[in-house]
Amino acid sequence: MSMEPRPLVAGNWKMNGLKTSLAETGRLSTLLKERSASCDVLICPPFTLLMELAAFFAGSAVDLGAQDCHPQKSGAHTGDISAEMLRDCGCSYVIVGHSERRADHGESSELVAQKAAAGQGEDLTTIICVGETEAERDQGKTLDVVSGQLKKSIPGTADPAKTVIAYEPVWAIGSGRTPTAGDVAEVHGMIRTRLFERFGGAGQGLRILYGGSVKPSNASELMAVTNVDGALVGGASLKADDFNGIIDAYRADAR
Ligand code: 13P
Repeated sequence: MSMEPRPLVAGNWKMNGLKTSLAETGRLSTLLKERSASCDVLICPPFTLLMELAAFFAGSAVDLGAQDCHPQKSGAHTGDISAEMLRDCGCSYVIVGHSERRADHGESSELVAQKAAAGQGEDLTTIICVGETEAERDQGKTLDVVSGQLKKSIPGTADPAKTVIAYEPVWAIGSGRTPTAGDVAEVHGMIRTRLFERFGGAGQGLRILYGGSVKPSNASELMAVTNVDGALVGGASLKADDFNGIIDAYRADAR
């Protein structure tokens, strides 16, 4: 793995998107063709659109990912989707441990590690999410909380080449508020140190994404922070122009 990670700009559509949303992805493809970016681009739509988008993005510069997977390969788990199914329908990435799943479904870091292991077992690159709540930040616990989540959420079997970390402060998600560049640098620096401890030299090549209210207007500043290797984007990934505006932070002529 190269020591300098190639940045990744990932769109997490969350529980948004119908067949009519495909027009927006068509527009994104056109925009990406017009001006190439020096980053990888990933879209994580809801499960219901994966098959259609896999066909749409086949052979293009856009990778496809899912927003969650079950830790087991198959079996009696009504309503769940396995990593093998995601691979089968064309995904190359899966997000695990998003704070909305930790909050809505009570997912523990131990479960997140099992999901990450399942994803990597199917050759999916796993984006493991961590981040503190507003109360935890106010109490000065940010580094401890994020460090603790990280330690438990990365599986013992983790392949560094298939691991991406996303730091998403819970209070910054969908709020329009972002940490200062200094705060982001502090947390990402701590994450990088932990990755070195865990993976040795390969820790330098892992991508650490920032997520939480990333927009075209703040992307360049956030992406310029040391140890920020891309973005995990929610709301602004739903509009091709906004998502493309964030990708602009990684276009040579825009830097
Ligand atoms: P927003 O970009 O809407 O704040 O969401 C961030 C996020 O949770 C991406 O996973």
